[in-house]
Amino acid sequence: MIHTDEKTVLNELETARRVAEGFVREGKVGDKAPGYHVVTFGCQQNEADSERLAGLAELMGYRHVDDVNEARLILVNTCAIREHAEKRVFSIVGEYKHIKNLHPDTVIGIGGCMVTQAHRAEKFKLSYPYVNFTFDTGSIHHVPTLVANALAGKKRSFVIGDEYAITEGLPTVRKTPHSAWLSVMYGCNNFCSYCIVPYVRGRERSRDPEDVLAEARELVKGGAKEITLLGQNVNSYGRDADFDCDIASLIRQICAIEGDFKLRFMTSHPKDVSDELIEVMAAEEKVAKHFHLPVQSGSDDVLRRMNRKYTVGHYLEIIDKLKNKVPDVSLTTDIIVGFPGETDEDFEGTMELLRRVGYDMIFSFIYSPRIGTPAAKMEGQIPPEVSGERFRRMTEFQDALSEERNRRFVGRHVRVLADEISKTNPGMLTGRGDMARPVHFAGDPALIGQFVELEITACGSYSLEGKII
Ligand code: 5AD
Ligand code: SF4
Repeated sequence: MIHTDEKTVLNELETARRVAEGFVREGKVGDKAPGYHVVTFGCQQNEADSERLAGLAELMGYRHVDDVNEARLILVNTCAIREHAEKRVFSIVGEYKHIKNLHPDTVIGIGGCMVTQAHRAEKFKLSYPYVNFTFDTGSIHHVPTLVANALAGKKRSFVIGDEYAITEGLPTVRKTPHSAWLSVMYGCNNFCSYCIVPYVRGRERSRDPEDVLAEARELVKGGAKEITLLGQNVNSYGRDADFDCDIASLIRQICAIEGDFKLRFMTSHPKDVSDELIEVMAAEEKVAKHFHLPVQSGSDDVLRRMNRKYTVGHYLEIIDKLKNKVPDVSLTTDIIVGFPGETDEDFEGTMELLRRVGYDMIFSFIYSPRIGTPAAKMEGQIPPEVSGERFRRMTEFQDALSEERNRRFVGRHVRVLADEISKTNPGMLTGRGDMARPVHFAGDPALIGQFVELEITACGSYSLEGKII
C-alpha cells in the first residue's frame, strides 16, 4: 500500500507553520489574521477533502471567513462528474478576478477532480492568470508549499502528479462535528464507461483499519453522533491491501466503539455487495437502516455498455435480500438518463425498476459526456430534448412514489439527529434518521447535535414533518 511518507507530510506541516510564523511577525493574528475561504463542489469525498484544506489553512495562520471577498486565501475544491459542475467552477472562479484586482496579495488555488485532468489545469493556467496554482486530488498535502511559494512571489504552478497515495496525519477542521465524514478508502477500479472518477482519483487504496478505527474513536470522543464512512466503492474495502479486513468487519469494529452514534456508509457498488454487509446492517443497531445502491439503469443492455458488471436480475436479488433481512430498509439509488444508445424500451425498463424496488429517493442525472471516458465516444448520443423529456417523466413519477414511501412513517415515533436549522424555514430544525428524507420540526437550536424523539405528523415527496414527543 502506498502511503505518502511521513517525512513529506511532516515537512509540509512545518512549511505551514512557517507561513503562520510569517503572519505572526507581521502582527496578523487573531481577528487580524488573513481570512481563508474554501469552496466545495461535488461529492462527500470532496467535502471530506475540504475539511483537510481548512485544517491546513488554519495551521498556516489563516482564519475562516464566510465572505469570500474578505479572504486572502481562496481554495476551490472542484468536481468533474458532469459538465454542469465544471461550468459552475469556471463561473465562480471568474468572479474572483475582481478580488485579485482589489487585493493582489490574495492567493487563489484550485484543486480537486476537475483540475486533475490536464486539459482543465491547462485552461486555468492560460485563461485565469490570477489563479496561483492548481493541485490534483492526490496533492492536498502539498498545499502549504504551494501557498508559501505564491506568497513568496514564485512562479505559478499547474502540475499533475501521477502517484495517488494515502496521506495520513493532516489536520482537519470539521464543518459539522456532530456529523462527520470518515474516508475509509480512496479511488476507484471500476471504470464504468461514463465515469471520470477512476481517471482523477486513481486506483483503490484502503486505509489501514487501525487508522480508521483511531479516527472513529476520536470522532466519537469529540461528540460525533453520526459517522459516514466514505469511499467511491466501499464494498471493495480491503481488497487492495495486505491486511485482512473487509467493510463488514470494519463496520462491526466501529460499532463496538462505546457511545451513542449512528453509522452510515457510501457508496456501494451492486456487484460487490456481500451477504455479510447485509447481515451487519441487520444486526448492528448503530448502522442506519438506509442503503444507497446506485443502479444507474434498468436495462441489461445499457448496464453492459456502462460496464457495470451486473444485470437487473442480479440487482433485484440483492434488493430482495436486503428487504428480507432489514425490514423497512430505506433504499436510494443513482440513475443516469440518456446514456448513449438508450432506447425508449431501455428507459421504460428503468421506470419499471423504480416501480418494482420502491426507492425512498433517487438521484437522477442526465448523461454528460466526459472527455477521456469510453462512453463519450459511443455512437447513439441522445439529443438533449429526448433525455430532458425522459428526465422530467422520471422525476414526476418518482416524486409520487417517494411520497407514497414517506407516508409509511406518518404516525410513527422515530429517533433523529437534530442536524441544522432548516434551510427553507429558519424557525424549524432539520433532523436526520434512518429514513432517507430529512424531517423538519419545531425545536430549540440548542438541540442541534443531539438525538431527539419525534412523532412524524406529515410528509411530502422530499421531506417529512414531525413534532418532539
Ligand atoms: N453523466 C451523468 N451522471 C454521471 N454520474 C457519474 N458520471 C456521470 C456522467 N458522465 C452519476 C452516477 C453516479 C453519480 C455519483 O453521478 O449516477 O452514481
Ligand atoms: Fe464512477 Fe463507477 Fe467508480 Fe462509481 S463505481 S466512481 S460510477 S467508475
